[in-house]
Amino acid sequence: MGIIKRFYFVTSYLLSYSIMLFSSTAGNKCKLIKIDTQNIAMVFTVGKDSSLFFDYFGPSIDDASPFFKKQSYRRDDYGTDPLVYPVMGGRNFKQPALSAIHADGGLNTELMCVSIDKCVVDSGNVDRYLILLKDRKNPFYVELILESFYKENVITEKVKICHNESAPIVLRDFYSGYLPIRANKYYLNSFSGGWGMEMKLEETLLTHGLKRIESRKEVRATQAENPSFMLSLDVPLSENYGHVIGGALAWSGNFALNFELDEFNILNIIGGINSYSSEYTLEPNQEFYTPEMIFTYSTRGAGDITRNLHDWARNHLVYDSKSIRPIVLNSWEGTYFNYDEKVIKRMIDDSKALGVDFFVLDDGWFGNVYPRNNSKEGLGDWVVNKQKLPSGLTGLASYAHRRGMKFGIWIEPEMLNPDSELAHMHPDWIVQEKGRPLTTIRDQLLLDLTNPDVQDFVFSVFDYVMKQSPYISYIKWDANRHVESAGSLYLPTNKQSYFWIEYVRGLYSVYGRIREKYPNVIIEACASGGGRVDYGVLRYHQAFWTSDNTDPRSRIFIQYGTNMIYPALATDAHVSISPNHQTNNQTPLKFRFDVAMSACLGIEFQPNQMTEKDLAFSEKAIKEYRKIQPIVLFGDLYRTLSPYDNHGYSSLMYVSKDKREAVLFVYCFEFQGRNILPRLKLNGLDCGLKYRIEELNVDSSVFWGNGSVFSGQYLTNEGISPKLQRCYDSAVFLIKSVE
Ligand code: GLA
Repeated sequence: MGIIKRFYFVTSYLLSYSIMLFSSTAGNKCKLIKIDTQNIAMVFTVGKDSSLFFDYFGPSIDDASPFFKKQSYRRDDYGTDPLVYPVMGGRNFKQPALSAIHADGGLNTELMCVSIDKCVVDSGNVDRYLILLKDRKNPFYVELILESFYKENVITEKVKICHNESAPIVLRDFYSGYLPIRANKYYLNSFSGGWGMEMKLEETLLTHGLKRIESRKEVRATQAENPSFMLSLDVPLSENYGHVIGGALAWSGNFALNFELDEFNILNIIGGINSYSSEYTLEPNQEFYTPEMIFTYSTRGAGDITRNLHDWARNHLVYDSKSIRPIVLNSWEGTYFNYDEKVIKRMIDDSKALGVDFFVLDDGWFGNVYPRNNSKEGLGDWVVNKQKLPSGLTGLASYAHRRGMKFGIWIEPEMLNPDSELAHMHPDWIVQEKGRPLTTIRDQLLLDLTNPDVQDFVFSVFDYVMKQSPYISYIKWDANRHVESAGSLYLPTNKQSYFWIEYVRGLYSVYGRIREKYPNVIIEACASGGGRVDYGVLRYHQAFWTSDNTDPRSRIFIQYGTNMIYPALATDAHVSISPNHQTNNQTPLKFRFDVAMSACLGIEFQPNQMTEKDLAFSEKAIKEYRKIQPIVLFGDLYRTLSPYDNHGYSSLMYVSKDKREAVLFVYCFEFQGRNILPRLKLNGLDCGLKYRIEELNVDSSVFWGNGSVFSGQYLTNEGISPKLQRCYDSAVFLIKSVE
């Protein structure tokens, strides 16, 4: 039902329903809305003039009626009390969640609440709230769509915008969600970085004014900043103590998260699609949906924020989230572009001997007129290079199948080299503005996914590859450049600013078609490493390639940041050769495995360059990983030591949901003084149980208590101190209840 039709329906029926539902005290309109989860609540009240006020977001409140009573003291005439969805117009002077130019040229929008509707999506856990707001002057509507996830303590918010004005209107800002927060101090923890150094945690004490986390690159949007945050109230972020708000946006293009500390010391958080250069004209009755903001709250530090987000993502968002992830050997760092059929067949055999599940053939397998032997040519020409691989993907996939191996393949379907048949055939498909030079990044150009023909093409690339063999069941989907000189030859001249939004919509539409036809294929998201690490892609992808940097020392930091927000289930982590190709750093093989085993373990080396001893170690470590894999992928993450604490150690633990099994990882990545050992309090365990500790990946243990049984209380309160006393010492412990 359209928003406007539904408006009439809800005014005639649901308002009376709402009165009962939201325990209003008086009047014939809903006055108080309380959205509850197990531990948190959000409270809105409708003011005298039907404005919808945002009263509370925090730990549960049983009786919210004082919020309603407080209404009579509200100084509506100041316009300073936060609204649930603050828009440009009237008394709002802060960063607006929405701004529109109406049909009559008016710049103001002032929203009043006209109806509230609640429906049960999943009994006992998920409720949906539809709150319809209308401009006081124009037939312009904003529907807030909030969902509460009781068990996971998550509330999501998105909006639908629609109007029935006499002519099209122009949207200039269209954010997904807003939170006004009151505290004495605000410590913003966000993630920054670049290629090979994604998701570096940074803490900023916010001062008055606006702090903005954003991307204007559209593709590879998350490489420099990530659309997620943890906000610690009053004190700096700590793992187990303090009030913290967590947030993330499920969108894979330009994003913006605004943190505006105003003159009343209220922190106004607004997040959604970045409106940068993105004015959008909305026809009468056309609907505009924003993506979702995901919010959660913890009274026990960063740890609970992470566990809430991971639970929510695994229960409600990540594609195919109940399946164990396969162990993959990816050819990229092992061969780069330099291979032929013989090399690949040998690699498949060697992968089999190592005990991995998949062999994934990376870049370099396609292009005949322009053979893809380096990054300079061939991208876009998705036909097998006959010289390199005479039996094609069909032959290779069958070969793998006969050896008992599954087969996967790399594609980068949104991109092309200027030197490709595709570039000559469809120059009009390239993202560009007429009359300006095309600029390449990594020798490549970008296809215009706003164009339905390009969407069909991108779908057909995937489809073509899949059709090469029934034994292809894994695709690595890469995207190795961002947008420059934005422009579309498909979009009309007056709609060029739609480019940013329509690109992502085009991508999601292709993903949707692919998922309809290929629900079971594993699709890894990659964008020069961690350029597409967001909750938008994870609706369609099982996992992302976390970073091109496979140095385990760097990975400790990259995975630490990534897993603060995103679950290990989606975090691909491969073991590569030493010295590391990105950093030149030398590390022991065990250290490399121990780090990769804390996420989705894979291999990125050429087995035939390894010694017999290393291969034997790898084979054993892969077997050991299978023992702990379900705990890592589906368990609760407890961070025991932060690599940011300047002691040279890092440690984390995954605990199974029933607390009967856990796995503890400890890493030493800098060593200065031999008297200092990491002390690890294992606070995710059950104090009432007894556990046996077994160290994996070693012949002789670094822990005196290896093999012994300890009470959960001892492990929680006293903890353990494994003897890691050299740089790149590491340990993995399986901790199992003996009862
Ligand atoms: C990107 C990816 C790598 C690899 C190369 C291939 O850099 O992040 O993993 O696939 O492209 O060209």
